[in-house]
Amino acid sequence: MSNQVHSRATRRQFLQAGAVGGAAIAMLGATSATASPQPPERQIRIGVIGVGPRGRWHVVNMLNNCPDVTITAVCDLQEDRVKMAADMVKQTRGTEPASYCSGEFDYRNLCERDDVDGVLIATPVYWLGRMTVDALKAGKHASHEVAGAQTEEECWEMIEQKEKSGKRVMLLENCCYGDEVMMIYRMVRQGVFGEPYYAEGSYVHNCRTLLFDPQGKITWRGELWRDSYGSAYPQHGMGANCKWLEINDGDRMVSCQTMMTSPREAHRRAVAQFGPDSEAAQVDFKTGDFVTSLISTAKGRMIRIDYSLTCTRPYSRYYLLQGTQGCWDSRSGIFLDDHAGLNATDTSWEPLEKYQQQYQHPYWRNDGAEAVRAGGHGGIDYHCIQDFVKMIREDREPWIDVFDAAAWSSIIFCSKLSLDRQGARVEMPDFTRGKWQDPDWRKDRMVV
Ligand SMILES: NC(=O)c1ccc[n+]([C@@H]2O[C@H](COP(=O)([O-])OP(=O)(O)OC[C@H]3O[C@@H](n4cnc5c(N)ncnc54)[C@H](O)[C@@H]3O)[C@@H](O)[C@H]2O)c1
Repeated sequence: MSNQVHSRATRRQFLQAGAVGGAAIAMLGATSATASPQPPERQIRIGVIGVGPRGRWHVVNMLNNCPDVTITAVCDLQEDRVKMAADMVKQTRGTEPASYCSGEFDYRNLCERDDVDGVLIATPVYWLGRMTVDALKAGKHASHEVAGAQTEEECWEMIEQKEKSGKRVMLLENCCYGDEVMMIYRMVRQGVFGEPYYAEGSYVHNCRTLLFDPQGKITWRGELWRDSYGSAYPQHGMGANCKWLEINDGDRMVSCQTMMTSPREAHRRAVAQFGPDSEAAQVDFKTGDFVTSLISTAKGRMIRIDYSLTCTRPYSRYYLLQGTQGCWDSRSGIFLDDHAGLNATDTSWEPLEKYQQQYQHPYWRNDGAEAVRAGGHGGIDYHCIQDFVKMIREDREPWIDVFDAAAWSSIIFCSKLSLDRQGARVEMPDFTRGKWQDPDWRKDRMVV
């Protein structure tokens, strides 16, 4: 599949996965041969907090594709959403999860339940860090959605509670599980690119329609775009870059510099959709339409992250990995020294597919068809949720652990601080407290 086709499919799949409504019930059991499982010996008991479109999609994914998962409790502020999620469980498994919808802190009662092993959190971003900390305090494994913890304090608290409780934390950064991203990861680890030293990642996704509800009332995404600024949703770009450049596994991010355009597009859209006199048109957005962060690492490498939720263009999540012996650019192809030779005159890109036979990651080689059938951003959600369940089943540190979650979240507050200082270089915290210097310090975690 060409990169262009891949991008188009991914956008469509992103939109589908973001729109899990009542129709999700119809999908139950339709996507997987494992939908009516024999009960395995040990059931993994999950509580889900936040059952909006994303949380309900996770419920569907687990019900369809994880025979050893039982969803024992669901929580949301909105009763109809709790009921919808509970009905999905009842319909496929015949069990009734406990329901929590009595206010903002009722989720703590879910966390305290004896029949919950792990908590999956898919609430608005400003809750993710807080809820993860509370789940750990209650002695539960936890996973949270992107964009994860929002402040440095939350990141440290998450690490502290993780260490105190001995429980596991996984960031549900699904884009790391993409076929191409994982294949490049494998190629990097096998030395195909030589030493990797520069990477680009992005999340440029026109989400202007999500800033207001259909009546023109601002949503939490709109409030974030209005009240904050910087690279607020960096993980879809960051995750792959950090895995390729061995961040926290022999290198670390030391500083960040960010630039941002002024905001135009969200306001323009609000005026066009709701009229110049509407409440929506009076909103004064602080986030600009295009945000770029440059991150330098301890080993003299560099990462660039582009971010926009308002740009007028089709969905574009592009990546680039540069090493001493080659380069992959998701928009152009791959170029390897080995193929061209150091003095070669052939300087054209090759399609990545040419190397698929040799380097495709086993997750995709073995379970790719199952993942695509399961759906969810083209199958990446399948692998992500499989890893979350495996983390609890095997009680092992996941591939994307609490240290990755904290480091990748740190772009959120460091980019903001850099903008406050007119693009100045801002130091980034070392959440591993120096452990990153040993490339093997996390060798016991799940191998990907
Ligand atoms: N990884 C991805 O590809 C991806 C895709 C979409 C969304 N997301 C993330 O998933 C999360 C949810 O997204 P969404 O589109 O479903 O948002 P949403 O706003 O539609 O749903 C969030 C739900 O959380 C509930 N909630 C809010 N505060 C709560 C509280 N204190 N206790 C219990 N429930 C509470 C809300 O009532 C709502 O139903 C966000 O963090 C978003 O960034 C990730």
